[in-house]
Amino acid sequence: MQSYIIKGGEKLEGEVEASGSKNSSLPILAAAILNRGKTILENVPNIHDTKIMLDIIKLLGCEIEEDGNRVIIDSSSIENYEIPDELMRQMRSSVILAGAILARCKKATFSYPGGCDIGARPIDLHLKSFKTLGINILEENGEIFCDSENMTDGVVTLDFPSVGATENIILAATLSGKTIYIRNAAMEPEIVDLQNFINKLGGNVLGAGTKDIKIVGTKSLQKNIEYKIMPDRIEIGTLMCASAITKGNIKIKNVKIEHILPIVYKLEEMGCEITLKDDDITVIAKNRMKACNIKTMPYPGFPTDMQPIIATVLGVSKGTSIIVENIFENRYKYLAELKRMGAKVTIEGRTAIIKGIKKYNSAKVEATDLRGGAALILAGLNASGKTIISNIGYILRGYENIDKKIRKLGGNIYTREGE
Ligand code: EPZ
Repeated sequence: MQSYIIKGGEKLEGEVEASGSKNSSLPILAAAILNRGKTILENVPNIHDTKIMLDIIKLLGCEIEEDGNRVIIDSSSIENYEIPDELMRQMRSSVILAGAILARCKKATFSYPGGCDIGARPIDLHLKSFKTLGINILEENGEIFCDSENMTDGVVTLDFPSVGATENIILAATLSGKTIYIRNAAMEPEIVDLQNFINKLGGNVLGAGTKDIKIVGTKSLQKNIEYKIMPDRIEIGTLMCASAITKGNIKIKNVKIEHILPIVYKLEEMGCEITLKDDDITVIAKNRMKACNIKTMPYPGFPTDMQPIIATVLGVSKGTSIIVENIFENRYKYLAELKRMGAKVTIEGRTAIIKGIKKYNSAKVEATDLRGGAALILAGLNASGKTIISNIGYILRGYENIDKKIRKLGGNIYTREGE
């Protein structure tokens, strides 16, 4: 098992480039299955989750070529329509492949993804939406068998603006030959990226980024296309917070400001000086941050994925902050590790009350999940002394070369095998 060894106390200063978005790459890799031609994707982050997704689409019959952050997918002949159970369990979000496989093969077999480190992660909204559209679903011993031969035109109204369910419906609808509307759709930028990819492929999706999406499904799509994945707004937010927690001065290149406005506003409220020039954002933290309150909400509200990360900055800010996690029911596990570094936190249900301390104490801690693990890196950078973070496999799922990026900014972080 790998660990990070961090010798904290350094200010992070300099320039760094954001990687491509994990949460946009995954649905677009699934969408490549819709194409009978060749898809070239640029800016795909080299992380564990994209590797799993590529393993699955290889098993379905696609030819894959990888060259750094470029992925070439030839999905002219898809033979298999089953997502293997062990890969479903490794990555819950592989459920969005179901929509793409259904579109292409008219059948899909997959298992219940099961809960994970931040909550139950049910897929009831996905299945309910499929049923509304005439997709036949049989569930037996944890396996789900879908068939979309009798798919109909329809309107799906989501009880909750689920990102994955919105993506799954768009994918299933694209080759259905039907006209499908989604009401109360998720509005995240990753949905817009998916729409842009599908439309470049020759599909017809309208309204992504709003609550109302219309898909005019066609019978098949075949085009050799190139597409560049959008930058990762959560990695960018993480690097912004790394500046805030080390009184740093960081310029992050390749940013889409409209994707990160809620993070910008909060960090400005906490005392950061933030400037933007072209696609570069500079975050300067001259002094210790001030406390502020956070409520996570669906986009364009404050993103839940940034909750552990900004909470860690608030843990060493002046004053008391109140955080309400409205999206996932179990996203405070990292706080137990942060308490080992001195954090003063009480949790009441979905609310965390954080009383700022001057500085974290270095300690031996364990990553509990992807974003909670990234939060511990920031705490280690703030603490003087040596912090060891074990279980960093969680972090490697969603951050490309995060240790290299931090070293480039003057941080002292190294990977050690075996801890
Ligand atoms: C996506 O997950 C992201 N993952 C998550 O990022 C992100 O936190 C989440 O959207 C919210 O923004 C990817 O894009 C790969 P949801 P997803 O469906 O699609 C409940 C990260 O750290 N729900 O919007 O799974 C669900 O339990 C990850 O990069 C149902 O109840 O999120 C949760 O409480 C973590 N039934 C809420 O909705 C369903 O059928 C939001 O889930 C589906 C979801």
